[in-house]
Amino acid sequence: MADKSSAPRTTTDAGIPVQSDEHSLTIGRDGPIVLNDHYLIEQMANFNRERIPERQPHAKGSGAFGHFEVTSDVSKFTKAKFLQLGAKVETAVRFSTVAGERGSPDTWRDPRGFSVKFYTDDGNFDMVGNNTPIFFIRDPMKFQHFIRSQKRRADNGLRDHDMQWDFWTLSPESAHQVTYLMGDRGVPRNWREMNGYGSHTYMLTNEAGEKFWVKWHFHTDLGDGNAHLTQDAADKMAGQDGDYHRRDLFEHIARGEFPSWTLKFQVMPFDDAKTYRINPFDLTKIWPHADYPLMEVGKLTLDTNPVDWDTQIEQLAFEPNNMVPGIGLSPDKMLLARGFSYSDAHRARLGVNYKQIPVNQAKAAEVHSYSRAGRGRTVNALDPVYAPNSYGGAGAQPETGGEATWMADGDMVRAAYTLRAADDDWSQAGALVRDVMDDEQRERFVKNASGHLANGVSEPILERAFDYWRKVDKDIGDRIEKATRDMLGGKSQSPGMASAKSISGYHGVPATASIAKGDAQNGASPDQQDDPVSR
Ligand code: HEM
Repeated sequence: MADKSSAPRTTTDAGIPVQSDEHSLTIGRDGPIVLNDHYLIEQMANFNRERIPERQPHAKGSGAFGHFEVTSDVSKFTKAKFLQLGAKVETAVRFSTVAGERGSPDTWRDPRGFSVKFYTDDGNFDMVGNNTPIFFIRDPMKFQHFIRSQKRRADNGLRDHDMQWDFWTLSPESAHQVTYLMGDRGVPRNWREMNGYGSHTYMLTNEAGEKFWVKWHFHTDLGDGNAHLTQDAADKMAGQDGDYHRRDLFEHIARGEFPSWTLKFQVMPFDDAKTYRINPFDLTKIWPHADYPLMEVGKLTLDTNPVDWDTQIEQLAFEPNNMVPGIGLSPDKMLLARGFSYSDAHRARLGVNYKQIPVNQAKAAEVHSYSRAGRGRTVNALDPVYAPNSYGGAGAQPETGGEATWMADGDMVRAAYTLRAADDDWSQAGALVRDVMDDEQRERFVKNASGHLANGVSEPILERAFDYWRKVDKDIGDRIEKATRDMLGGKSQSPGMASAKSISGYHGVPATASIAKGDAQNGASPDQQDDPVSR
């Protein structure tokens, strides 16, 4: 019981003193409650509306606050104020899993989200990345399908490995990311020891208007970014403590053990992109460090926990379109689609005025937009409410924007990226298995992939998956097949998605998928490459 002398008194939401925290208003001690117990009604009504919709995807996660400080001079690449030597800005960070729901265990195998909001003098800049430097797909048309394949079936509402591997093996461009996913990064030990990557290629512009391409890497200051839980440990933890990673972050920050990351850039001169042997805008590819070395930029530190998780973390809204002068998007089709998708998701989930929720407000910059009214607006809009105007309203300044722009031409088509000399779906995944993983990591990778495959994947998809892994690396494919067959005791008896009443069974490989078509390099079928369908 709170000390009555010092504790604040309970009030209604309107600030009116409340008489009891325990008893509703009734007719006599044992009689019915009455409709004019406004406080009881307010409490019930508020409770019924406490949950907002969860994010689709990346529903499960948590975060903290801190700051970012620039430690190296990168002014020759960017004029972004918050990236100038010595600059220090406040940040909000959220980590997440992708496919699980808001209450799902932190230790399910999945990529991890790594989102950073920088409250800069030029407005909020968001870097919404993952703990891997690449992604499953390279065309946003596939994103929705990809996420659905990782979530739940229509009929039984269960997740289904058959549909996951069906999608992956029909989308060979996923091989690099699935290799990461089945390796140690698929279940990080905690968020503090995890790297973060912008993954996409972004643009930088300097004061002179010169343009560069950049990839962002946040390297944890605790280890090499591969700290992991084994599958067994992760499974056990999922039962013991579904909030293991959330708890870990909160407790470390509460104890004063602040996690930090060193931000590094890979910078590519603007014109290199035209001729580089790998399409530098293909999100399924890394830029080898030997070609574009890492350079240090600054340090991100988290030192403050939320005090109200719902308002500060659940209502936190990141959007890759939040760009400030000196940094911009690129011709990566995925990034351009994300530039639309997130703000749309926030309007649906949080309402049109989500940028007035304190955690999403610009902190270091003043807001003078012409948006007004709408549900949930809390900041007064002032006249004049239109531009141009003659009454002293805000005016745009073309010279300060420095928008990141580039040239493009060609017919309007639906087609895959043009292939470069070294573009293929398998070799970077193969290099990850052969050259980056050590023997123990490879052993765990085979165990994780085969354990996943032995769990509900039907025989036809299984065979396709072995083929997929052999294309990544012949030896690794053979090892995954052997381990899976050993676990299954032979062929898979699982019906997979064919058990769904609403579909008619297995039809083989669709004409648009390249996996079964020999060595087609790109994720899109050769037909798409050769025959742009719509103009
Ligand atoms: C076309 C591709 C993509 C689309 C359309 C897309 C769309 C979305 C949407 C709608 C959300 C939920 C946003 C919310 O309600 O707050 C989300 C969350 C998220 N996405 Fe993506 N996404 C794409 C690709 C990616 C990629 C490539 C990455 C990483 C490099 C990524 C990282 C994240 C993260 C970290 C979150 C959670 C943000 C948070 O912590 O609030 N997404 N995505």
